[in-house]
Amino acid sequence: MRHFLDIADISAKDLKAILADAHAMKAARKGLPKGTTDPDPALSGHVLAMIFEKSSTRTRVSFDMAIRQLGGSSLVLNAADMQLGRGESIPDTARVLSRFIDAVMIRANAHDDVLEFAHYSDVPVINGLTDRSHPCQIVADLMTLEEHFGALDGLKLAWVGDGNNVAASFIHAAPKLGFALNLGCPDGYTPHEDDLAFATNSGARIELTNNPKTAVKDADVVIADTFVSMGDKNADVRLKALAPFSVTEALMAGAKSSAVFLHCLPAHRGEEVATTVIDGPQSLVFDEAENRLHVQKAILKWCLA
Ligand code: CP
Ligand code: NVA
Repeated sequence: MRHFLDIADISAKDLKAILADAHAMKAARKGLPKGTTDPDPALSGHVLAMIFEKSSTRTRVSFDMAIRQLGGSSLVLNAADMQLGRGESIPDTARVLSRFIDAVMIRANAHDDVLEFAHYSDVPVINGLTDRSHPCQIVADLMTLEEHFGALDGLKLAWVGDGNNVAASFIHAAPKLGFALNLGCPDGYTPHEDDLAFATNSGARIELTNNPKTAVKDADVVIADTFVSMGDKNADVRLKALAPFSVTEALMAGAKSSAVFLHCLPAHRGEEVATTVIDGPQSLVFDEAENRLHVQKAILKWCLA
């Protein structure tokens, strides 16, 4: 049984296989109505439970459509409506759900809660975002870059803004797939020390700077995310500190002229990114959102098939 909790735990070989499967499945069902099952519905009869402690549009809909296209079905559970929300323990919840369903996707406030759930679960557990990481998102981002550039090896990616959960999953992926990663984050908003230690120890080509122009210099890809993540406090203080890291047209001009822009969405136009950038010709954000679907399918198959 395989859990999908963090890219740091997945081998480069498996990560590449997941990406290859996502590309193949996307191509194989081109032109079919979205609710039709795949020509090869690999998870027929399987049920995925999705537990949400935080809001979601893309993760919820992409996982729901993913399991349907693979021939299975899903249950959406709001944590607040479960006995979990009234104090039932994570171990008991994990052991009970394991008797009913085939896999669990969890979007949780605390990363440690997902690790605890996985420890007690007898079925695969997938991290659908925590305060510390967002691995499914980054696989979709990498798929989008492979579609655009052909390969990831040799690319220079620039993360600009808060060194948050999404940035952490990019750090985890860098040593596995051979891209260079510049992190442009203001002081006080750098990635978690464990992720910076991972970057150092992995031998990945990762550089940290507090200058956004240095971060994007000669980059093939510029990436932004919200300045105020779900659960973050002191929004006003964050917005002020992070404002110089907004991806404007002027900042984009410091990257390669061929550079593309990614954002996991939801976006806040005029805060972390200018409207002209996210809605402009360099933006791949809607391919990136669509690819969540194809990647969730490959991750579900990797866990279950
Ligand atoms: N990018 C992403 O995870 O979006 P949702 O919060 O809508 O799921
Ligand atoms: N960093 C954001 C990502 C949302 C998909 C958050 O955690 O709110």
